[in-house]
Amino acid sequence: MFSHSAIRSLAAPSSRLFSSSSARHFKVAVLGAGGGIGQPLSLLLKQDPLVTSLSLYDIRGAPGVAADVSHVDTASEVNGYTADSLDAALEGAEVVVIPAGVPRKPGMTRDDLFNTNASIVRDLAAAIGRVAPKASVCIISNPVNSTVPIVAATLEKAGVFDPKRLFGVTTLDVVRAARFLAGITGASPADSAVTVVGGHSGATIVPLLSQTSKGKGVQGQTYEALVNRIQFGGDEVVKAKDGAGSATLSMAYAGAKFTNAVLRGLNGEKGVVTPTFVKSPLFADQGVDFFSSNVELGVNGVEKIHPIGELSAEEQKLMEACLPELKKNIEKGKAFVA
Ligand SMILES: NC(=O)c1ccc[n+]([C@@H]2O[C@H](COP(=O)([O-])OP(=O)(O)OC[C@H]3O[C@@H](n4cnc5c(N)ncnc54)[C@H](O)[C@@H]3O)[C@@H](O)[C@H]2O)c1
Repeated sequence: MFSHSAIRSLAAPSSRLFSSSSARHFKVAVLGAGGGIGQPLSLLLKQDPLVTSLSLYDIRGAPGVAADVSHVDTASEVNGYTADSLDAALEGAEVVVIPAGVPRKPGMTRDDLFNTNASIVRDLAAAIGRVAPKASVCIISNPVNSTVPIVAATLEKAGVFDPKRLFGVTTLDVVRAARFLAGITGASPADSAVTVVGGHSGATIVPLLSQTSKGKGVQGQTYEALVNRIQFGGDEVVKAKDGAGSATLSMAYAGAKFTNAVLRGLNGEKGVVTPTFVKSPLFADQGVDFFSSNVELGVNGVEKIHPIGELSAEEQKLMEACLPELKKNIEKGKAFVA
């Protein structure tokens, strides 16, 4: 059993503690709550002191997950919604987290999921546009590089798109980067934070190791192997699960951590900065109008998009590989809704 302060430090290891005495509390909806990510994510959100109400929706299994999670002795109330109750699940939601969709099997890329997941997120986004148009929306469903533009275009069609309130969750790449770097240097992961920019798949994942005191000492083959592991770490899990899916537990942790950052921003906490995939001006002139970089989160969602900063020669090469692929992924998402 975790105390609130323990949870807060679990969710925000690098940020100062924030008093919850004056805290607003928030209604959060999880769409896809019955799945491999959705279930542990719902459990972790039940333990977030900023969540007062948790709406769990899935096309199957959500009422059972909700009944189970609701017995955890934290203050928030939990409700489960069946396939035909999406609008009720979204009613009043201020934050919507979406892990709905199919995961990868061995040998698949995230882009191979496009055909199934594109229509799932489009339909969920249409419901959000109708019922909870002001909600902050956090997309976990892959391929994130395409699903985020799909949600943006769907909300745009409905006339309610607010680029400050749509986020692709790339936190697992950040979590992996810190863990893998710490594994090499022997430092604590808490002291090994790495800014990861770009997108969320393979070569579009660009860790900026040169910008961290622990990372810049990693050179040569060790550097190459570390970058490759951060970019393709998800494949290790897909292979080890041998057909049973992709990362769920570490993803739930990352999803809860990111949702907590969004909630702390909405709650007025200052200085909440984390990488996330948002509508971004940084590379828009190259046709890449969604991009993950450090973003300051606040009461309006995105408060400030930070530039990527100075890159090493290796990182410049990684960016050269990232941008054309990311552009294709974004265009594919947009074309699906056009
Ligand atoms: N962003 C990331 O870093 C990251 C990491 C891992 C996995 N993922 C992605 O997250 C998604 C979910 O993965 P998972 O392992 O939980 O899969 P899963 O199959 O275990 O769960 C998916 C859930 O979505 C539900 N679902 C399907 N269609 C739905 C709809 N229209 N509305 C509501 N719910 C619906 C299913 O019933 C199921 O319960 C996949 O697309 C996966 O690729 C993202």
